[in-house]
Amino acid sequence: MSTKNIDWSSLGFGYIKTDKRFSAVYRDGAWSEGGLVDDATMHISESAGVLQYAQTCFEGLKAYRTKDGKIVVFRPELNSQRLDDSCERLRIPKLPEGMFLKAVDMLVKANEDWVPPYGSGATLYIRPFIAGTGPVIGVAPAPEYEFRMFCTPVGPYFKGGAKPIKLMVSDFDRAAPNGTGHIKAGLNYAMSLHASYTAKHAGYAENMYLDAATRTNVEETGGANFLFVTKDGKIVTPKSSSILPSITRRSLMIVAKEYLGMETEERVVPFAEVPEFAECGLCGTAAVISPVGQIDDHGKEIKFPSGMDNMGPVLTKLYDTLTGIQMGRIEDKFGWIHEVK
Ligand code: PLP
Ligand code: COI
Repeated sequence: MSTKNIDWSSLGFGYIKTDKRFSAVYRDGAWSEGGLVDDATMHISESAGVLQYAQTCFEGLKAYRTKDGKIVVFRPELNSQRLDDSCERLRIPKLPEGMFLKAVDMLVKANEDWVPPYGSGATLYIRPFIAGTGPVIGVAPAPEYEFRMFCTPVGPYFKGGAKPIKLMVSDFDRAAPNGTGHIKAGLNYAMSLHASYTAKHAGYAENMYLDAATRTNVEETGGANFLFVTKDGKIVTPKSSSILPSITRRSLMIVAKEYLGMETEERVVPFAEVPEFAECGLCGTAAVISPVGQIDDHGKEIKFPSGMDNMGPVLTKLYDTLTGIQMGRIEDKFGWIHEVK
């Protein structure tokens, strides 16, 4: 049961302190066993690697309450793998085998009253992260780290939920060709703040970033990958080594092909091709699928035929199938659902 006194249907995407969080520390070359703690505040050195040089990476996944009352998480092993990849690129020690998944189970179980009810439109967002907590002053990996995983109930990432949003093509770059765009490093998000402030100030929900090297190909937004639908119903998603390999996007490409029998393509998407598409959406754990109705490029407007009122028909099918699998309404053919008991 969701026993907390919350108006679940009006939740936005914000932080609400829940009861317990998982914590483990890396000290003297080894990770502690870790466990649940009550304190939502971290106490770290003023010279911590995370504070001085942004040595931190994170993940994002959700727990769902299914139709038949179970609590489940979606493909958590992929988040664990991606956290490892982020750690490697940032010289952060990887977690011991199995710790991530154990922490998900313990955290969600301990906060089960915070998992929003089935059908409320809200979910429990889980935020794992590792930060360099030990002191550095020369640029070097920190000597100590903390792995934390907390959770917070959330509603839609974009205001209005399934209402189409407007994007602008950014003059800023998100990631360099051989940089850190493919990992979930905190620094990628710090440097996006000015760009997203600029977009929001100009009346847009988000930015569309183009590839930094040529500024001719579509990359992604600050927190989600792109999906396009061609006029003949094919699903197209940009391929690039500098975008985050979204678990939602990878899953949706399989849903499109294996559940819905659609054709899919992961390939370079020239920005010049965007006006040709019938539908456009953003996908990610937080965003789920957020429809895009319009993209503005320095005064030039690209309006998708699906319009500004509703999500287009093809993305709606994808959305219904993915959320159906996550909420237990549609068969989980590929073992994507992990039950928390
Ligand atoms: N792209 C960026 C930059 C993100 O931060 C996220 C969020 O995790 C995504 C894409 C979507 O990834 P996922 O579907 O794994 O949540
Ligand atoms: C997620 O979708 O989990 C993310 O981490 C995106 C973030 C920008 C909220």
